Amino acid sequence: MHNGSKVTVVGAGNVGATAAQRIFDKGYADVVLVDIVDGLPQGKAVDILESGPVSGSDASIVGANTYEETAGSDVVVITSGIARKPGMSRDDLLLTNMKIVTSVVNEVVAQSPDTVLMPVTNPLDAMAQRAFQVSGFPKQRVVGMPDILDTARFRTFLAMERLDVSVESIDAWVLGGHGDSMVPVVGSTIVGGQPISKLIPKGRLDAIVKRTQDGGAEIVNYLKTGSAYYAPSLPPSSRWSRPSSSTRSRLSLAPPTSKASTDRRTLRRSPGQAGSERRGRDHRVRPHRRRIGRPLQRSADAVRELVEVMDNANG
Ligand SMILES: NC(=O)c1ccc[n+]([C@@H]2O[C@H](COP(=O)([O-])OP(=O)(O)OC[C@H]3O[C@@H](n4cnc5c(N)ncnc54)[C@H](O)[C@@H]3O)[C@@H](O)[C@H]2O)c1
Repeated sequence: MHNGSKVTVVGAGNVGATAAQRIFDKGYADVVLVDIVDGLPQGKAVDILESGPVSGSDASIVGANTYEETAGSDVVVITSGIARKPGMSRDDLLLTNMKIVTSVVNEVVAQSPDTVLMPVTNPLDAMAQRAFQVSGFPKQRVVGMPDILDTARFRTFLAMERLDVSVESIDAWVLGGHGDSMVPVVGSTIVGGQPISKLIPKGRLDAIVKRTQDGGAEIVNYLKTGSAYYAPSLPPSSRWSRPSSSTRSRLSLAPPTSKASTDRRTLRRSPGQAGSERRGRDHRVRPHRRRIGRPLQRSADAVRELVEVMDNANG
């Protein structure tokens, strides 16, 4: 059933193992699951493999603590690192996860120099920049995923407003970084051809925007010992193989060498299929630029600050 592709998932914790399971279940690719904990990726890989006869997947999945098995991967999903606990922001993870992502990228690139890297580890935008810097890959081969998750959360909360439509009929974007300063673009949100402002009062919309921005923290506060993983594991297990028309944007990645370059890139989203050099038409947000320009600037500034902290740490 699968197409001969190979995906490595680094980190066999909540996000990584769930992403690996989803890729395996759909038969998208053979999977290598890597973790530093002895036995953890091996045990989870066998467990997932044994579901094949029921799910109908003929893909293979193996676990490993080293990187030889990962050689020749088409895509490497990086979920290794610490997750936040209640009271922590994503940014609190920065320096610990920077070291983990740096070492992981060095390992995977040595085995798979032509792969596409998909960092998931938080703070995601900073880790994606780190992966980009360490790998030396062109920006098309370092692909973030927060737009899909954040937009999915935004669309979910809108759909909960009894709009009486499928979530698939809600066309929305969240731009900016994957942090508290992300920017759900209310002005371009369309439901069944109608602007959302005609369907939901402003006060409710403001509350939905806030809930979207706090979407990760809401789940951390419920779970107490870790962070979300069911929704976060979906983008890395689907977007590289099946781009969705309703999740049509992504954050382009490139080093923020200057204020202007970061701003431009943060403003710009383009449809993309991870794993492919081919990119579709750019979608710019010109109609709403005046209204969302300042929030996007704040979001770009927040990401740039993290990158500067990493650069100064020289790790
Ligand atoms: N981008 C997003 O939308 C998003 C969403 C949820 C979680 N996350 C992030 O993903 C990361 C993982 O979250 P989780 O819930 O799966 O955490 P988890 O603790 O369940 O799993 C992390 C795994 O990484 C492994 N690990 C640590 N260092 C490693 C290394 N050097 N090499 C290989 N494996 C290593 C650990 O042993 C552990 O099994 C966290 O940083 C979390 O904040 C991102």
